[in-house]
Amino acid sequence: MTKREVRFPREFSWGTSTSAYQIEGGGTNTDWWRFERTGDTPAVEPCANACDSWHRYEEDLDLLVKFGLNAFRLSVEWARIEPERDVISTEALDHYRQVLQACHARSILPVVTLHHFTLPLWVADAGGFESPEISTWLANYARVVGEALGEYIGVACTINEPNIVAIMGYLVGVFPPRASSWERFVAVNKTMRASHIAMRDALREGPGTFPIGLPLSMQEYEAVDGGEEQLESLRHEMEDEYLNAVKDDDYLGVQCYTKMLIGPNGLVTNPQDELTEMGYLFWPQCVEYTVRRAAQITGLPIIVTENGIGTNDDDQRIRYLAGALQGLSNVIRDGVDVRGYFQWSLLDNFEWILGYAPKFGIVAVDRSSFARTPKPSAQWYANATKGFPESVL
Ligand code: FCB
Repeated sequence: MTKREVRFPREFSWGTSTSAYQIEGGGTNTDWWRFERTGDTPAVEPCANACDSWHRYEEDLDLLVKFGLNAFRLSVEWARIEPERDVISTEALDHYRQVLQACHARSILPVVTLHHFTLPLWVADAGGFESPEISTWLANYARVVGEALGEYIGVACTINEPNIVAIMGYLVGVFPPRASSWERFVAVNKTMRASHIAMRDALREGPGTFPIGLPLSMQEYEAVDGGEEQLESLRHEMEDEYLNAVKDDDYLGVQCYTKMLIGPNGLVTNPQDELTEMGYLFWPQCVEYTVRRAAQITGLPIIVTENGIGTNDDDQRIRYLAGALQGLSNVIRDGVDVRGYFQWSLLDNFEWILGYAPKFGIVAVDRSSFARTPKPSAQWYANATKGFPESVL
């Protein structure tokens, strides 16, 4: 297919990143909602009302304006837009159109993810990512979203971290559908790549000139105690197969949080290391490492679509962000084509099986009133983006 004209925003995009299920609340028609309520679930608590952003999105966008940011990454929920097979909810599309218009009214570029971890129940019940029809369903859904919202989309992301959905759901067995098989993990990764391409091509046929890409979870990896072979086979499945499959995209979304140490039997943690609330190694240097690697292999422009830290210690968050932006300025100075950076996350939100415990937000959310209170890191981030890169050196 011929490549359509693509327009990137003129200036660097500075934003925060979110997803529908984690902030909207009321995602009842999804596999995750059911999974959180199933007997022996590893989910520590249900998502319930999340941050109530379905109703409070204008307040969220006003915070971005207050911080002087110019972009916002959000997702639209497939289960709301297509609640049953081939049944399209114009109400849901109208809602998301209003959200996107509210972004534009504030000069905020909306970066829109079509799939962020959750599946509609009808898809999950028909086999989810193991159904032979999944790519077709996703492409149809992308076509619907593109036609209804394409003129308002600033940048599109197809499937959020398909490699994490595959590893957590089909190998580690802690996300739905809780399978533990290397073969199923590999097969789902393959399906994800085909689905991404089908969605991208469907979006390209619709209105709008927005860039389209895949937000991939990447790590800085290090082999320890002879873990080289293990590292290579894991990284091959988690990253390289994807990086080689997206070369006709408009950009690549890099999402990184940490460095992983890989020994001959898998993941290793050193007791003396500084760990975050997610159990991740404190490693802001991962931004520089992954962005370089992604750009080198794909040759594509890069957007850091997620990066941040789960911590109750906001000073630690500032320290992390300073390290991350330092790395980003290094790669930009070396000529790597980076178009934006999206801190995860605007709000303290629902962190999947870990519930509300990890605090990734630059804004705190009261769990009963949903009142939003910016943390010092919000002001720090706002200032850093203004004088970038000098401000972080
Ligand atoms: C990423 C997910 C995102 C959030 C962060 C902390 O893997 O894409 O939804 O949970 O991790």
